[in-house]
Amino acid sequence: MKVLVFTEKPFAPAAVKAIENVVNASGNELEVVEMGTREDLLEAVKNAEGLIVRSDKIDGAVMDAAPKLKVIVRAGAGYDNIDLEEATKHGICVMNTPGQNSNAVAELVFGMVVMMCRNQYNGKSGTELKGKSLGIYAFGQVGRNVARIAKGFGMKLEALDKFVDDAVMLGEGVQPVHSPEELFTNNHFVSLHIPATPETRNSIGYDLVMKMPKGGVLINTARKEVIDEAGLIKALEERPDLRYVSDIKPDSAEEFEKKFAARVFFTPKKMGAQTAEANFNAGVAAAEQVIAYLKDGWNKYQVNK
Ligand code: 3PG
Repeated sequence: MKVLVFTEKPFAPAAVKAIENVVNASGNELEVVEMGTREDLLEAVKNAEGLIVRSDKIDGAVMDAAPKLKVIVRAGAGYDNIDLEEATKHGICVMNTPGQNSNAVAELVFGMVVMMCRNQYNGKSGTELKGKSLGIYAFGQVGRNVARIAKGFGMKLEALDKFVDDAVMLGEGVQPVHSPEELFTNNHFVSLHIPATPETRNSIGYDLVMKMPKGGVLINTARKEVIDEAGLIKALEERPDLRYVSDIKPDSAEEFEKKFAARVFFTPKKMGAQTAEANFNAGVAAAEQVIAYLKDGWNKYQVNK
């Protein structure tokens, strides 16, 4: 059976090697297509039974082109790039690899925050994180890693997540809050870890951001779709003290950069999970999950049930 790895953003070479080892050891064959076009994808999936992707868009047309495809594993957390309804219609199991790249994303949150608080290292005096408050929006695997690291900085922590019991947060030394308004009002820093869903799309905009205390910094390592960009731009225009950092370039990146210069920062590509370790962990987990599904239907992390 053929397992295809198709990634616009390549995995680190050691991760590709490890994926190959897992697939070969199971007696299956691996094809790796990196930085390929959509045409390359449509051609390569033709005879694939397993598919491993990252943020690559997998829609019904890709599935139509892949009559043998049984399982797609998104090597990572967010699976908004995969059409789940179409996958179910095509009888394809879709899984993610929860937790495998979450430390990498959490570390980048602090990389970007410290850089912003030190004025992008422009030689001017900055501010510290110690004693400041951080609001974590969604207390999943990334949110929990953010909390762990924030404690090392001596920050006060709050989190909002309607799917997580207060007791779990309290057990981690994090104060639960129960509305986005509370989270934004109470915290100097707000770090977004919500998935892109119909409910969350465009949900972070003017009203919420305007509630942040003086000097507030909004951090987005989740998805660009959760931001109402026009609303955020308006808030940044009215509040010169606010700042925005993200590892996802907004659609209006040029406007943000032109209007707000050093008050905003965006990585050139989505970089949160782009470390050797995260690539290795997520890649190997994806390969193991594909093989386990093809072998005996193992589907612990199925997301299109
Ligand atoms: C995720 O959802 O796991 C992260 O956003 C990482 O995405 P990437 O694999 O495209 O870097």
